[in-house]
Amino acid sequence: MNVAVMGYGTIGSGVVEILRVNADIIAKRAGVPLKVTKVLDLRDFGDDPISSLIVHDYKEIADDPDIDIVVETMGGVEPAYTFVKAMLESGKHVTTSNKALVADKGAELIRIAREHEVNFLFEASVGGGIPIIRVLDKCLTGDVVEEITGIVNGTTNFMMTKMTDEGSEFDDVLKEAQSLGYAEKDPTADIEGHDACRKIAILTSLVSGAQVDYQDIPTEGISHISATDIKYAAAMGRKIKLLASSKVSGDTYYCRVAPYLLPPEHPLFNVEGVFNAVFVRGNMLGDSMYYGSGAGKLPTASAVVGDIVEMAKHVHMNVYLEWHEEKLTLADPKAQSFRNFVRTSADRSEIESIFSDLQFVDAGISGETGFVTAELTESEMDEKLGKLGDKVLSRIRLG
Ligand code: HSE
Repeated sequence: MNVAVMGYGTIGSGVVEILRVNADIIAKRAGVPLKVTKVLDLRDFGDDPISSLIVHDYKEIADDPDIDIVVETMGGVEPAYTFVKAMLESGKHVTTSNKALVADKGAELIRIAREHEVNFLFEASVGGGIPIIRVLDKCLTGDVVEEITGIVNGTTNFMMTKMTDEGSEFDDVLKEAQSLGYAEKDPTADIEGHDACRKIAILTSLVSGAQVDYQDIPTEGISHISATDIKYAAAMGRKIKLLASSKVSGDTYYCRVAPYLLPPEHPLFNVEGVFNAVFVRGNMLGDSMYYGSGAGKLPTASAVVGDIVEMAKHVHMNVYLEWHEEKLTLADPKAQSFRNFVRTSADRSEIESIFSDLQFVDAGISGETGFVTAELTESEMDEKLGKLGDKVLSRIRLG
């Protein structure tokens, strides 16, 4: 069976490498040898053996009757969307690692795949090498999924771990993450939570069967977290982690991406460095956790190759996947309740005139006061923080 790869970057070259290094075992599992016959890229690759396979026009793949499976590892919505749609309409199976494409166009591409009796799979779009999509789509199908809470961005988890372990400031840790090649080209997508937002939109779409628009998810990143916040977290015996979460509320979900202060008993407390983990609670299963390498060349390519094998096993049929284009209206994020940690330059009497049932936190920092609120809705919290005005130095929810 012939495979084409669109985008010979980090992930695309990883897919080619895995198909070469593990060719024999993959052929046994797929029931047929898998051969890369075309690679779409804007560039040429000189003496690289791949150069003989390079094409510059996606139509050379779409129009090739000998190619059954196409891998999309280009990233971004366009031109990936145009190319993937053309492949599905030409009767080719497609797997992608591209979360921007899946979050934006997933439901439509699933429908187009169904109409053409092929498959559109996207295991690598969330959690890198952790097979979380397969778990939700194939394994936990007897459950109502009540909660998904994940550390789904390796870059920011690496940064929060470094800040916690070394007491470093945000900007220094960001530079280190960039020099190690963890951060995306534009670090904004990682540090402002946009990457995690698209991933939780995909997971929530899968468990609800409807379209969750990532634009509807309140998203706060970690760029405002300081070494002082970390000192307070340590004083409380907690760690700050960027979480992406969905919690069932009636027939919909509360979704949010934000940094949270986690206690040691939280299942995600010990997930450190670039690792990802996703906690899933089912109404029958109870609690479960999926942990592993959530980013990087070979872990992500491993998930893509898993999809290739799955498609090779179902080359003559569409495997039904429940994710419709109809939009899911999310629960009102302002009605969600949390306890909150607040740092302020206001004095204790002013704080106590606004907040009741609070606990002060002493981290040995002078010139400011830290405290933890009782459980409040987001609306109530907005109103109270408004009263403190520019005396609010920071606010982090408790997980
Ligand atoms: N920038 C992402 C991360 C890559 O750090 O997790 C994987 O999607």
